[in-house]
Amino acid sequence: MIYLNGKFMPIEEACIPVLDRGFIFGDGVYEVIPVYSRKPFRLTKHLRRLQHSLEGIRLTNPHSNAEWQHLLEQVIVQNDENDQSLYLHITRGVAKRDHAFPSVPPTVMILSNPLSSPSVSLLASGVPAVTAIDNRWIRCDIKSISLLPNVLLRQLAVDANAAETILIRDGYLTEGSASSIFVVKDQVLLAPPQSHLILPGVTYEVVLELAAAHNIAHEVREVTEEELRSAEEVLLTSSTKEIMAVTRLDDQLVGNGKPGRFFAKLHQHYQHYKETYMRAGSVDK
Ligand code: PDD
Repeated sequence: MIYLNGKFMPIEEACIPVLDRGFIFGDGVYEVIPVYSRKPFRLTKHLRRLQHSLEGIRLTNPHSNAEWQHLLEQVIVQNDENDQSLYLHITRGVAKRDHAFPSVPPTVMILSNPLSSPSVSLLASGVPAVTAIDNRWIRCDIKSISLLPNVLLRQLAVDANAAETILIRDGYLTEGSASSIFVVKDQVLLAPPQSHLILPGVTYEVVLELAAAHNIAHEVREVTEEELRSAEEVLLTSSTKEIMAVTRLDDQLVGNGKPGRFFAKLHQHYQHYKETYMRAGSVDK
């Protein structure tokens, strides 16, 4: 069951007009929110980022946070799985094709997909990644539905039987095609700083909080391509992948080619945090 413009319906029955600006221009923003045991994880953070994305494209938020929460809860109960991945999508609505903003209501859609956390075997082996030049626009802090560069970049990984494409802009690590990237260098966890060149990852923020809470040496600073290539560990995070180790980068092993100590600790803390968070129920950050 999905939500589309005020109604709940089976996905097969949902239609949007061909003049929707999401279809014509990629003119919209989105969010992906993980749901564990039917509770959205870090909802407030996702809604805050949604607000930031909407402001970035000058589109008025069609709902208050309480209204969003209510809509999301209704989508969650109308779908079977306890663990879901909610996809929120807002476009500038339906209008005759013209670049200038129209005065029409936005299109609002919420989809749910089953959320399956990474398998035990992938967690144990880690995943391969490739690198590429980050050729996206310079407002990567906006979660735009115009994902053509990300799609093309991710396909480079698919073509190489890898899981992700890690992006480098002007000699510095930015992020993955659909994930945040950390490296471990000289036994310090390094995170590229938030800027207009990367998406403010909700999972990224959790990882930095966990590092601080558990005295794991970490630093938020620019990471050079050379540091990425000679890192002891490379970690990938996202709402759907949680935390995974990257154990091969292009043609080279990362460290000894196995998930390392930082990954093991952070993964364990993340799972524990998730469980505590869900048990606390209404407590949100
Ligand atoms: N992508 N950077 C990019 C470019 C992303 O697309 C994502 C997530 C992240 C990680 O953000 P978070 O931890 O808040 O999920 C970083 C989602 C999952 C997607 O597009 O499907």
